[in-house]
Amino acid sequence: MSKGKIGVIGSGLIGRSYTMLFISAGYNVTLFDILAEQTHAAKKDIWDQLKALEKQNLLRGTLTPEKQFELIATTESLEECVRGAFFVQECVPERLEIKRNVWAKVDKMVDPSVIMSSSTSALLPSAISEGLANKNRFIVSHPTNPPFYAPATEVVPASWTDEDVKEKTIALLKEVGQIPVVLNREIKGFVLNRIQYAIMGECYRLIRDGIVSPEDVDTIMSQGLGMRYAFMGPWETAYLNATGMMHYGEAYSDMIFNIQQDFGPPERMEGPTLEYINESMRKLAGPEEDIQERRRWRDRRLTALAKLKKDMDKADAEDSKQ
Ligand SMILES: NC(=O)c1ccc[n+]([C@@H]2O[C@H](COP(=O)([O-])OP(=O)(O)OC[C@H]3O[C@@H](n4cnc5c(N)ncnc54)[C@H](O)[C@@H]3O)[C@@H](O)[C@H]2O)c1
Ligand SMILES: *[C@@H]1O[C@H](CO)[C@@H](O)[C@H](O)[C@H]1NC(C)=O
Ligand SMILES: *[C@@H]1O[C@H](CO)[C@@H](O)[C@H](O)[C@H]1NC(C)=O
Ligand SMILES: *[C@@H]1O[C@H](CO)[C@@H](O)[C@H](O)[C@H]1NC(C)=O
Repeated sequence: MSKGKIGVIGSGLIGRSYTMLFISAGYNVTLFDILAEQTHAAKKDIWDQLKALEKQNLLRGTLTPEKQFELIATTESLEECVRGAFFVQECVPERLEIKRNVWAKVDKMVDPSVIMSSSTSALLPSAISEGLANKNRFIVSHPTNPPFYAPATEVVPASWTDEDVKEKTIALLKEVGQIPVVLNREIKGFVLNRIQYAIMGECYRLIRDGIVSPEDVDTIMSQGLGMRYAFMGPWETAYLNATGMMHYGEAYSDMIFNIQQDFGPPERMEGPTLEYINESMRKLAGPEEDIQERRRWRDRRLTALAKLKKDMDKADAEDSKQ
């Protein structure tokens, strides 16, 4: 018995991740790519990842890797990818004309009830979907990379997106173990990248002005702020730093406002400051030819952190039962 079919368009990094999430909950996935060899490479990669997750005890859902893997079909036809699907997740490169082109085709192939969801990191849902007959069925589901270990997913409707599209997308993401965050309206950069770029902007100014080195900026995050940010956000951090939020405001609002006024306008990252950061990162993370090695180091840490959080969530849930 099938739970239903999902079409995934584009089988790169994100298409593979979404496929793994959907099969973990028992959905059939038909994977399409303009390059047939990409879908074959994707299947092999997904198999390897499923076995690795099983070993680390991080597999999602209740199905074995074998049962999950059986749910994947690949195709060289876009039509076959989306036919009979109740949900389509597009994961093609981040270029407006490519996405508009793909969706214009899918729009003509699917039933008006189908949900059309894009993985875009930064393109506005209105810009991708404005020309579609079924634009009211369009929404953005922007995952954090890597989606399996960083489950927060931004859900961004356009002004014309139907309410039920939003609700069903949220329900599906929750069912596969993601943690959706819904934006009430679209905005440039969505939320994750606006926060990320605000941090980068201030870090850049601190280096440009000679206050600290790039290594020291990274230390403040990885050995300071980031310790808490791995499990709570800035608001809970503030709340716990005082006796509640109103007290926090009384105690710190003036000081924070005063410092924020000192930040200065945004600046393009380029020139000597960027070269200085480049040089520091080469020392910290190794030369460019070793980046792949350092990425594996990052992914091992992320995996261990995800496991720790999962174990602690489980322990909390058991505590609250007693
Ligand atoms: N990589 C990330 O960190 C990340 C995080 C969140 C969201 N995203 C977004 O997800 C989307 C996909 O990114 P990715 O990193 O998986 O890219 P990728 O380059 O790894 O994969 C893109 C795939 O799409 C295929 N493709 C190209 N044109 C196509 C077409 N017309 N029809 C079907 N397939 C086509 C390519 O062959 C490739 O396999 C982008 O919009 C990106 O911004 C990426
Ligand atoms: C879903 O996958 C199963 C297992 O491979 C298969 O038997 C079934 O026919 C598939 N259903 C659909 C709708 O693709
Ligand atoms: C917590 O309080 C200290 C001073 O006691 C302050 O330096 C710090 O910025 C506060 N944290 C937050 C999140 O405001
Ligand atoms: C940036 O760093 C790389 C090594 O990671 C080095 O090869 C390159 O020359 C540097 N570029 C500049 C402009 O300094």
